[in-house]
Amino acid sequence: MKKYKTEQERFWAGQFGDEYIKRNDNEAIIASNIAMFSKILDGIKNVESVIEFGANIGLNLIAVKSLLPNTEISAIEINQKAVLELQQLSEKITIYHKSILDFIPEYKRDFVLIKGVLIHLDPNCLQDVYDKLYQTSNRYICIAEYYNPVPVEISYRGHEGKLFKRDYAGEMLEKFKDLSLIKYGFAYHRDPSFPQDDLTWFLFEKK
Ligand SMILES: C[S@@+](CC[C@H](N)C(=O)[O-])C[C@H]1O[C@@H](n2cnc3c(N)ncnc32)[C@H](O)[C@@H]1O
Repeated sequence: MKKYKTEQERFWAGQFGDEYIKRNDNEAIIASNIAMFSKILDGIKNVESVIEFGANIGLNLIAVKSLLPNTEISAIEINQKAVLELQQLSEKITIYHKSILDFIPEYKRDFVLIKGVLIHLDPNCLQDVYDKLYQTSNRYICIAEYYNPVPVEISYRGHEGKLFKRDYAGEMLEKFKDLSLIKYGFAYHRDPSFPQDDLTWFLFEKK
């Protein structure tokens, strides 16, 4: 098996990551994603390229592509089974089968997305990942994660060291002074129509 720098990467590349795919493969998730990205992308112009960090089987990218049909899309994903599913999608996707921690952007994309992934990374790697999100973006960065005003760890399906909540958006705004917060919102798991996993999303623009 490939050597990774962190236990969190091994966790997602391995059996837990494989089982996550089975639990989260359904059309209702795409509908909820379309509803969420409709809000995020409303009023946003000139997005010709999108890349998702930690795309899993592409349920966000399918939603984004339905809203922005002429957009070039790319995905970074560590789990091989997820990559196999991404390769089978009808949408043409440039796939980087690797860890975000090893990703080096070849060129910038207009819209850089990370959703439900920062929360699962080794917190010691966050500064590096913030740099990569920033360096990969031509204009917009969207993060959708679990918010908490101070960093906390919570148990994740019986696993320790695998789930964290913090003010990821605030940390990025502190780090990159030319980022502006365009909009933000919350998507609730009890939403009667289009639930999400209690995500707080933020859209930044590089000014
Ligand atoms: C909770 S899932 C979220 C998937 C997707 N972003 C979504 O919103 O449906 C986390 C995803 O990030 C991937 N992932 C976790 N750590 C990663 C890393 N270091 N590099 C690349 N992908 C990673 C996992 O394999 C998994 O597909």
